[in-house]
Amino acid sequence: MRLVITGSYEQMSIEAANIVAGQIYLKPNSVLGLATGSTPVSMYQRLIAVHKSLGLDFSQVTTFNLDEYIGMSPDNPQSYHYFMQENFFRHINISPENVFLPNGLAEDMVAEGERYEKLIEARGGIDLQVLGIGQNAHIGFNEPDVKFAATTHQVELDSETIQANSRFFASEDEVPRYAISMGIKTIMMAEHVILLANGRNKAEAVYKALCGDVTPEAPASILQLHRDVAVIIDKEAAAMLPDTIRGVNVTRKS
Ligand code: PGA
Repeated sequence: MRLVITGSYEQMSIEAANIVAGQIYLKPNSVLGLATGSTPVSMYQRLIAVHKSLGLDFSQVTTFNLDEYIGMSPDNPQSYHYFMQENFFRHINISPENVFLPNGLAEDMVAEGERYEKLIEARGGIDLQVLGIGQNAHIGFNEPDVKFAATTHQVELDSETIQANSRFFASEDEVPRYAISMGIKTIMMAEHVILLANGRNKAEAVYKALCGDVTPEAPASILQLHRDVAVIIDKEAAAMLPDTIRGVNVTRKS
């Protein structure tokens, strides 16, 4: 595992965008796993800027998003379909037929999970997965649990997640209670993973992910077992980390 501690959210976003851009330059038909939330917004802005100024070409890129709320149509401004269109896809030259998110309106979520897994497999698997982290150390919508969920599946959101995500809604009551999310196995099968976190409110989750026991109670801790993870965070999110962490190669950038 590599850990890059940056001086700011902007620096974190630049580092992350450089890795994603590098992946696309090296393999133009890359399959990316993408995340929503506040954390990657500036990374997407940087990638859009690199597309516009340097011609970073997304025409052969395929993307699979981690998750979607259940019951939300793609044109609902609260949906993750909408978020991705607004924050990323409509600004780059990606082909709509290469963009995938789980269908939150599917009638049968078990069948939808299987369909999504098959699509990922048919595209050759995920080359680079981008992750945020919840305050409860969730990745995707894999909430703390007694076991690691394997593949794309329906989840019931944690009260902490509902509260955290209520900032995007008029009230907490409006936050969906269920979502469909890639599972831990789906994420762990990705060739490369980058985990992003910024802000003091993520410090405990980052500590659990990097220094805690590997346990489904802290889903991100499973990344300690992945063969190629770069954790890119700002100094606030690093506030609880010790100077040295076993098995982790630490770089500090201001
Ligand atoms: P955030 O969400 O980027 O909005 O903090 C991250 C997450 O919940 O995974």
